[in-house]
Amino acid sequence: MLSYRHSFHAGNFADVLKHTVQSLIIESLQQKPTPFVYVDTHSAAGRYNLSDSKSEKTGEYKQGIARLWHRNDIPELMRPYLSTVQALNPTDKLQYYPGSPMVAKTLIGHHNRMELTELHPTDIELLRQEFSGDRKVRIQQIDGYKGLKATLPPAQRRALVLIDPPYELKTEHDDAINGIVASHKRFATGIYALWYPMVSRAQVNRFCEKFAKQGIRNILRIELCVKADTNEFGMTGSGMIIVNPPWKLEQQMQQLLPWLTEQLKQDDSAKFTLEWLVPE
Ligand SMILES: C[S@@+](CC[C@H](N)C(=O)[O-])C[C@H]1O[C@@H](n2cnc3c(N)ncnc32)[C@H](O)[C@@H]1O
Repeated sequence: MLSYRHSFHAGNFADVLKHTVQSLIIESLQQKPTPFVYVDTHSAAGRYNLSDSKSEKTGEYKQGIARLWHRNDIPELMRPYLSTVQALNPTDKLQYYPGSPMVAKTLIGHHNRMELTELHPTDIELLRQEFSGDRKVRIQQIDGYKGLKATLPPAQRRALVLIDPPYELKTEHDDAINGIVASHKRFATGIYALWYPMVSRAQVNRFCEKFAKQGIRNILRIELCVKADTNEFGMTGSGMIIVNPPWKLEQQMQQLLPWLTEQLKQDDSAKFTLEWLVPE
């Protein structure tokens, strides 16, 4: 079952948090001259046209990237991420939004490799078109966790692995934890960044508690909720669980989260969490 299409959600408040964190991690990796590999287990399409009927139907980007992309008063730490959006939108109209593979590509340049996996038949074709002819990018239509088995440990010995499942299936929280535990056994020094939706507080609590008990250390949790938790259906926020975060990330997010929460809030209950799920 592959009904999820990211084009309905591209550029929403959850993408803003995810791609901001992704950009800061890549910027940290770039500080050293040694190469690294960027691995995206759930890549989706790579780029989204915000004028198409799917984006317009939900209008989610209006509560996300549209609130930020054109502003002059943004914190310096937002610049890497926003530069990837501005690169696709050279005029004053917000037309395109970069997915995680495109955010990565814009920031890592041409000397680092990218390993992209995606299962959806339409999105994999869009992804292939986007990176056609780029020999530094390998794209495979396989299960992202199977891809990790083949890719890790990477020859470069440095990697960011972004895991961004659609959480359509009941097993996907456990699949993500198991995928990271198995990868960490083969490659303990990699950076693993897992996105999760905040739909049910009880479920997020169970998920985080389970993650913390896996014997992996050095795990940072970043969460931004744009409105109050509810028992009704719908996403009220999202979070990232980062294994082996760059040492500056906690301090960077401490600086950014109050500002981001203020910009993205949908009611006065908006809040953020920044905590060590497991310390070093
Ligand atoms: C939330 S979207 C990814 C968005 C993308 N990472 C971004 O930030 O632009 C999730 C994608 O995962 C794909 N998918 C679902 N299960 C998968 C699996 N087991 N392996 C690889 N891709 C999968 C879906 O088709 C969907 O396109």
